[in-house]
Amino acid sequence: MGRDSATGDIAQGAEPRAITDIDGDDVPRTSTRVGEFDRVLGGGIVPGSAILVGGEPGIGKSTLLLQVADAVSQDTRILYVTSEESARQTKLRASRLGIASPNLLVLAETNVERILNQINRVEPTVVVIDSIQMIYKPDLPAAPGSVTQLRDCCMDLVYLAKQTGIAVIFVGHVTKAGTLAGPKIIEHIVDTVVYFEGDRFHSHRIVRCVKNRFGSTHEVGLFEMTGEGLREVLDPGKLFVEQYGEGGPPSGSIITAAMQGSRVLLVEVQALTASSVIGAARRKVSGVSSDRVGMIIAVLEKRAEMRLAADDVFVNVAGGVKVVEPAIDLAVALAIASAHSNRPLPQGTLAVGELGLGGEIRSVPQLETRLREASRLGLGNAIVPHMGSHIPKLGGMSLHEVRRLSQALSDL
Ligand code: TYD
Ligand code: MG
Repeated sequence: MGRDSATGDIAQGAEPRAITDIDGDDVPRTSTRVGEFDRVLGGGIVPGSAILVGGEPGIGKSTLLLQVADAVSQDTRILYVTSEESARQTKLRASRLGIASPNLLVLAETNVERILNQINRVEPTVVVIDSIQMIYKPDLPAAPGSVTQLRDCCMDLVYLAKQTGIAVIFVGHVTKAGTLAGPKIIEHIVDTVVYFEGDRFHSHRIVRCVKNRFGSTHEVGLFEMTGEGLREVLDPGKLFVEQYGEGGPPSGSIITAAMQGSRVLLVEVQALTASSVIGAARRKVSGVSSDRVGMIIAVLEKRAEMRLAADDVFVNVAGGVKVVEPAIDLAVALAIASAHSNRPLPQGTLAVGELGLGGEIRSVPQLETRLREASRLGLGNAIVPHMGSHIPKLGGMSLHEVRRLSQALSDL
């Protein structure tokens, strides 16, 4: 019967195996020789995997990938498909970056079938598609850059990657205008997703992993855009902390220690309050969650009797960094309070702690790690949640433990 033959066919497929019999050894990886990029990927490129590198136009995606392609091509062959720029333009950029590797092949092509053909012919270890939004499949009626084209082209390339073990890196533009289908559409198709953060007006770039089927997702890579391309930042230390001279910091400025992956980053939180048009107080926030700032303002009003309803409140994390963890709450609250009273905090003051709705200061993960780093970088005093009996020795840094917001504010 047909049914038997059908079972026969189906039996050719994969067999279920006991989970204990599956080889769970670490997946092999090709190092990109760019340490910060390896860190984001969880140690390097996994053969046959698909990686999406997203970010706003002009943020440095092509620069990073050309540098990575150059570094990887010291050991093996790389195909760099440029669908936006001509091969000549890519060459100009490469010359500027001092890249001249004979193993780095450049293909200016937008037709996905021809790209697949060339990949099969060249058999590189890694293919870079810069960008995925500019390539198209001729037999689809949809326009290049549309959702259908994006998804189909991406699927074809990922399928090839899985079959051959060639790794594919896609570049995807995040655009606000929405004329191009965004890279979010293909996030579920690829194995690893990393996004560029920062803005074009600062030289620092953070590359953050948001999805990784082969590793942890909380790592970030730090780079600085220079005249010779992206330079790795190995010791971020006080990168995002302004050095105020003799006069000390202005009111509304405080330092906090944020965890970025496994690293501690010291960042400066700034706040400004100004009297507002009656009934239309604005809250403008960048680098932290505006919902969170709204909550902190409410706690300041209710638990510390600070009148902010008639004030515009601006909160900013200096240097274009984003901090999402609640550990920044106390620093935000103190920055707003310092701005409101127009009293600066002493130079080199660190604040770390989560704020509860009752005005209580809660502990945060890895507090000791944060404090050690701040101490290493020479900060003199820290306002921290109550630590009980477990108080680390921190060289020259003095700790001020607080249980409630009002307690932290009374010392301002
Ligand atoms: P690019 O990598 O082209 O951005 P994307 O591919 O994300 O659109 O980077 C563009 C910006 O980087 C551009 O404004 C010029 C600047 N840049 C440098 O400052 N130094 C360099 O060495 C290079 C190659 C670019
Ligand atoms: Mg580009």
